[in-house]
Amino acid sequence: MCANLGINRTATPSLHGTVPHEVYGSHTAPNRQDRAASSRKQVIGRKMPSTLGLKMEIPAYFPRGWFAPEAFSEPQQLLAAFFNSSTVGLAILDRQLRFQAANGALAKMSGVPAGAHLGKTAQQIFGDLEPLEVTLQHVLATTRPALDVDLSGRLPKRAEVGHWIGNFFPIKDGSGKVKQIGTIVVEVTNQKKLEKSLHSLTARLLQIKDDEQRRIARELHDSLGQYYVRLKMNLDVLSRHELEPDDKAELFAQSMQVLDRCISETRTISYLLHPPLLDEAGLASAVRWYVDGLGQRSGIKVNLYVQQDLGRLPEKVEMGLFRVLQESVTNVHRHANSPALDIRLGRKSDQVTLEVRDYGRGIQPAQLKRFQETNTSGGVGLAGMRERIHELGGWLDVRSDKGTIVTAKIPLTRSRKKSITRQHRKGKSAKSDVA
Ligand SMILES: Nc1ncnc2c1ncn2[C@@H]1O[C@H](COP(=O)(O)OP(=O)(O)O)[C@@H](O)[C@H]1O
Ligand SMILES: [Mg+2]
Repeated sequence: MCANLGINRTATPSLHGTVPHEVYGSHTAPNRQDRAASSRKQVIGRKMPSTLGLKMEIPAYFPRGWFAPEAFSEPQQLLAAFFNSSTVGLAILDRQLRFQAANGALAKMSGVPAGAHLGKTAQQIFGDLEPLEVTLQHVLATTRPALDVDLSGRLPKRAEVGHWIGNFFPIKDGSGKVKQIGTIVVEVTNQKKLEKSLHSLTARLLQIKDDEQRRIARELHDSLGQYYVRLKMNLDVLSRHELEPDDKAELFAQSMQVLDRCISETRTISYLLHPPLLDEAGLASAVRWYVDGLGQRSGIKVNLYVQQDLGRLPEKVEMGLFRVLQESVTNVHRHANSPALDIRLGRKSDQVTLEVRDYGRGIQPAQLKRFQETNTSGGVGLAGMRERIHELGGWLDVRSDKGTIVTAKIPLTRSRKKSITRQHRKGKSAKSDVA
């Protein structure tokens, strides 16, 4: 029907990978109008009764051979649209591992315009991306696909190391011989970065946990342990020796003092590990208790604003916010050199907000930027707080402007929504749970 159709490649490939081509030729279709309509091409000239001039948008990165007449069929156009619009990288390589086709998403990954891939080898475009070459050779040799291959490296046109997942499959001819390799590539650089920061965060959290346990052990040994030794010695003396009543009374009084210290020390250690007030009386009371002790211990002037009718919050929210308070206040103590500290705790219908603000030296802009972009800050305190609040469906913001402001917001409707979702997922069994 369209035996004489051809292509006049006049334009050079544009950056976005699409370039207008003129398609010209003659056809022998009995009904020219139908033909033009069915192939959705615009007729731009009819010099002779049997000749059509057609104009259409054809991707530059499709090889010339693809524009044979059959390339104008609906399925081919559909395929081209799919190829061009795909948000994952798609490419076809010949047996010499040269690009025969590459789409825009792949061009975005490689940093090379889609059209400029054609005829180049995988190595020329992707450099020494590991283990690309070896995988492609393996597909050719075994005629079997290679799936979910982790690819990493620095591409010639990109500054930093990137990560991808590639799927490579053989495209065979009628006799079963591999003619080409189809390639699907997804970029996972950002996921890898997050994974890495999560790994290092986990490792550091474990380290901190070890350090914390060591610190508690030392504290128990050095303070409580010593008091108990003293008490035992006093009791020994009292039981073994005949003492003058005055000496006896003095030893008793001394022992009572030591015992008082034991009680208060035990309370402080256990309260800091998990304030019982939090379970019994709620966040507002626990915060007041913590701030009282803080004023006495640190000498920082603490202004506390707690909403009167805060009420009780879900257990995890109370614990999460209390830990954010502890970490933020510890940071002020360790890093800020601030004379004062404002703590605000409030609730607005469906959201609870905690703000800890100091007036100290602030966080370095570069350090803050790194924390905001990658959730790494040098320590695990800020990153841990953010993880904790994210877990509760909220968000944590850290700003620095004449001091530092840490704000945590947690929606209070989430747990309800979550339980509804859970029931929904469980389907019928949820109904029996509820019944
Ligand atoms: N309130 C603050 N004022 C000044 N610098 C701070 C403050 N909070 C955090 N920083 C800075 O941010 C860094 C990271 O804090 P964090 O993640 O809690 O780790 P760490 O406290 O263990 O160092 C601190 O080392 C410090 O330099
Ligand atoms: Mg800290």
